[in-house]
Amino acid sequence: MNPVAGVRYREATVADVAEIARSRLADPEAGRADPRMAAYLQGTHHPQRALAPRVAYVALHDPDVAGYIAGHLTRRYDCDGEVQYLFVAPRHRRSGIGSELLRRLARWFAEQGAFRICVDVDADSPSARPFYTGHGATRLNDHWLVWEDIRTLLPSGMRGRLVGQ
Ligand SMILES: CC(C)(COP(=O)(O)OP(=O)(O)OC[C@H]1O[C@@H](n2cnc3c(N)ncnc32)[C@H](O)[C@@H]1OP(=O)(O)O)[C@@H](O)C(=O)NCCC(=O)NCCS
Repeated sequence: MNPVAGVRYREATVADVAEIARSRLADPEAGRADPRMAAYLQGTHHPQRALAPRVAYVALHDPDVAGYIAGHLTRRYDCDGEVQYLFVAPRHRRSGIGSELLRRLARWFAEQGAFRICVDVDADSPSARPFYTGHGATRLNDHWLVWEDIRTLLPSGMRGRLVGQ
């Protein structure tokens, strides 16, 4: 892995949605960003069985959005949380940005006491399944993967502090 210099991460808001959508144009095969993303972040669009708490993070390679992730608490499939969006712009792939975004979301889930996390894998994306399984997700059904305990993605020192929350 070859980390990209100068990439910074922060929580995203609805004000980032336009730049997020623009970043996605770099990958026509991935398709456009979900037009419901602003409503999702504002809490007016709810994926199936979603609960209100949700969060998004962006990776910024100034001035561009290099990648983003979002997730929410859920009751779907007996999970505590769901990864809703994940995308890294093609020119930034395989440099650890997706992994860092996933770790940030994992930490947020753990802070909410949400440990069993699922994701609906994009079957048309050649990178999605290897990325998630490489991070320890296992089969839930034909479309979905699950982490029985998302804290396995966190550094052991941080994991200890979050146990039992
Ligand atoms: C999936 C995605 C977010 C990964 O982002 P990324 O920044 O490239 O991921 P990382 O660099 O952190 O990759 C970590 C590991 O995942 C695995 N991985 C990532 N892309 C892979 C690919 N195309 N093929 C095989 N393994 C892959 C590798 O094990 C990789 O480690 P390595 O580079 O040391 O071999 C990115 O490819 C993407 O945006 N794809 C299109 C959108 C998408 O599929 N989103 C998920 C929807 S469910």
